[in-house]
Amino acid sequence: MRTTVGIIGAGPAGLLLARLLHRAGVDCVVLETRDRAYVERRQRAGILEQGSADVLRECGAGDRLDREGLIHRGFELRFEGEAHRVDLPSRTGGRTVTIYPQTEVVKDLIALQLGGGPPLLFDTRVVAVEKADGEQPLIRFVRGGQGGRHGREGTLECEYVAGCDGSYGASRRALPASAVTMHARTYPYSWLGILADVPPSSDELLLAGHERGFALHSMRSPTVSRLYLQVPNGTDPRDWPDDRVWDELDVRLAAGNWRLRRGPVLAKSVNGLRSQVIEPMRYGRLLLAGDAAHIVPPSAAKGLNLAFGDVVTMARAFTHWHRTGSTALLDRYSDNCLRRVWQAQFFSHELTTMLHAAPGADAYDRAMQLTWLRRVTGPTAAAAELAENYAGAPLV
Ligand code: APR
Repeated sequence: MRTTVGIIGAGPAGLLLARLLHRAGVDCVVLETRDRAYVERRQRAGILEQGSADVLRECGAGDRLDREGLIHRGFELRFEGEAHRVDLPSRTGGRTVTIYPQTEVVKDLIALQLGGGPPLLFDTRVVAVEKADGEQPLIRFVRGGQGGRHGREGTLECEYVAGCDGSYGASRRALPASAVTMHARTYPYSWLGILADVPPSSDELLLAGHERGFALHSMRSPTVSRLYLQVPNGTDPRDWPDDRVWDELDVRLAAGNWRLRRGPVLAKSVNGLRSQVIEPMRYGRLLLAGDAAHIVPPSAAKGLNLAFGDVVTMARAFTHWHRTGSTALLDRYSDNCLRRVWQAQFFSHELTTMLHAAPGADAYDRAMQLTWLRRVTGPTAAAAELAENYAGAPLV
């Protein structure tokens, strides 16, 4: 097989890139190790910045988003038993965010691609990217047969490779250690998350910086709530029966007369918080995007939005090259992305540190945290900056 851009991974990054390239007339093929049902069910993020929602609309993937997405014009920061609302439009020139789960974004993009878009091969595991530093990179894959283990081997010759295969994919393995720097940080706490079959207890997100630790009230839809609690690293979810989770959420999210609605817990899991950046986001003709290039802790909901930012930049660069033969934008791809990536790293780190109780933190640390929280919830420039960062910058 042969194509212009070989895309590894059919997560949001790979699928949106394929859509953008298809519309620009650039040939591409997407290779995805999992089957369609698995990719469409994988629970991940759910908050689209205004820029991400706009890019989906612009490429024809906005119909269901506009029907079913929940537009949020603000969120609440809760601490010391009080709620402080952060209004987004008044601080950002009218920008909002939309609650629309990543599973739905992926379903919409897959449906478009299978209905006349470029080839999308499921059950196709990329095992190696070769000759990325040459003129004609080669993707080796195994297709079919239980996740690719007993399948047929094949190759895809490309002019460029887009590595959109997440942090454990084949693209990262193709990077020589001498060619890139990996920046990494593991946070000293994790999140226990539940999905609950109960309508949200608030129309907007609630982020609590309680002295016992962080808590988040969020939602997937008008009937399904998503809630999180900070827990120590190494926590076993079995030590947190449903009642214990709800009781702790009640304590940390408490403010005034507000009441948390309880309901059947559909899923429960514990995940660590980490930050990673690979610099540069390119090796020869292999360009990285999304989780393959960087990871952020989920506190500021930047993972999916950063992935979209990368592929919009990448699609623009490929389109320019395709039309003019100039590699000028491809050559600047990594620098252009990294500016936004580090900005998001900084904001995600700031919000995480402001709201979590670090192990060993003392009264002085807590006083600093509360001072920080009061600054960003007062009539200050710090509050405007928080809203700006949360709503994100336009992508197109
Ligand atoms: N060959 C082919 N496909 C692969 C391989 C491989 N060797 N390894 C991984 N993949 C696929 C995964 O199965 C997955 O479908 O690559 C895809 C990567 O998708 P995501 O992990 O969703 O990453 P990305 O598209 O960058 O999306 C960014 O935002 O909400 C955050 O972290 C969250 O998923 C997230 C993301």
